[in-house]
Amino acid sequence: MLDIRRLLEKSERLQWSVDDIDFTAPGADLVRDEQLGELAPFMSDLYWIERVAAVVFDAMRSRETDPVRRAIFASFAADEARHAEAERRLMVRWGMLGRRQRPQPNPSVAKLLHVLERDAHRIHPSVFAAIIPMTELVLDGALVKFLTRVVDDPVCDQVFEHVNADEARHIAMDFYMLEHYGHSYSAMTNTFELVRSIARPQGMYALLFGYFPTLTRSRASLDRLGIDLEDVTAAMKRYTGLGQRNPDIARHPAYRLMSGYIDLVTGNDRIGSALVRISDVMDGFRGGPIAA
Ligand SMILES: [Fe+2]
Ligand SMILES: [Fe+2]
Repeated sequence: MLDIRRLLEKSERLQWSVDDIDFTAPGADLVRDEQLGELAPFMSDLYWIERVAAVVFDAMRSRETDPVRRAIFASFAADEARHAEAERRLMVRWGMLGRRQRPQPNPSVAKLLHVLERDAHRIHPSVFAAIIPMTELVLDGALVKFLTRVVDDPVCDQVFEHVNADEARHIAMDFYMLEHYGHSYSAMTNTFELVRSIARPQGMYALLFGYFPTLTRSRASLDRLGIDLEDVTAAMKRYTGLGQRNPDIARHPAYRLMSGYIDLVTGNDRIGSALVRISDVMDGFRGGPIAA
């Protein structure tokens, strides 16, 4: 069992600042010109996923009654905001953005962020507890690993060394929370509150029309970059494996929804692409990407 007091102590002790990294150090030119065009949308997705993660961890903090867990989530929200800023500064370093510019979000992530900023505190934390580990496993196990492999810039390595150290703590806590909610909801006969929070239109909207397409768009951009999608699949399988080993997790309703979705999309891109198309159609109906 994870010792969450120790995790909190570590989370606070290991905070770092983007200013610890010298973004003017030599090596920016090691990113080849032909890489830049493909890396830009990838980095932009990464930046916005971190921003989403910061909002989600802040929502977890606001709904948490346990003071230790609350402080851990506060530190995680700070971590994610810092990751976004460090990635933005890499983009500036590589000439993808002006010094004070932020990347343009793709329509899916713009919509997701818009919905979450308004409604995240109304979505039951156990729903997030099911979604977060999957995102972080994919980020950690595939996207970031890939980025550090293809980019030769030493400053990029330095950034992701810091990011990975934070993410290791996040994943430990993600599994802990998933088990926690899996256990408490398995023990409950009435999952009314959970079902209601998933079924609430804006919650569902955020999940289906925001989060899922964001992932599949990232998959498409990874494909263009030439990443082996095996890593992504392996990370997703790690997620579905959690429930195979732990019956409490397996009964968690939002986890079941997510793993069911993963079973559908792994090795089959059609479902995810269909969701991207649905979200584009919804944009058309709703008169713009962020009108929910
Ligand atoms: Fe992060
Ligand atoms: Fe994280």
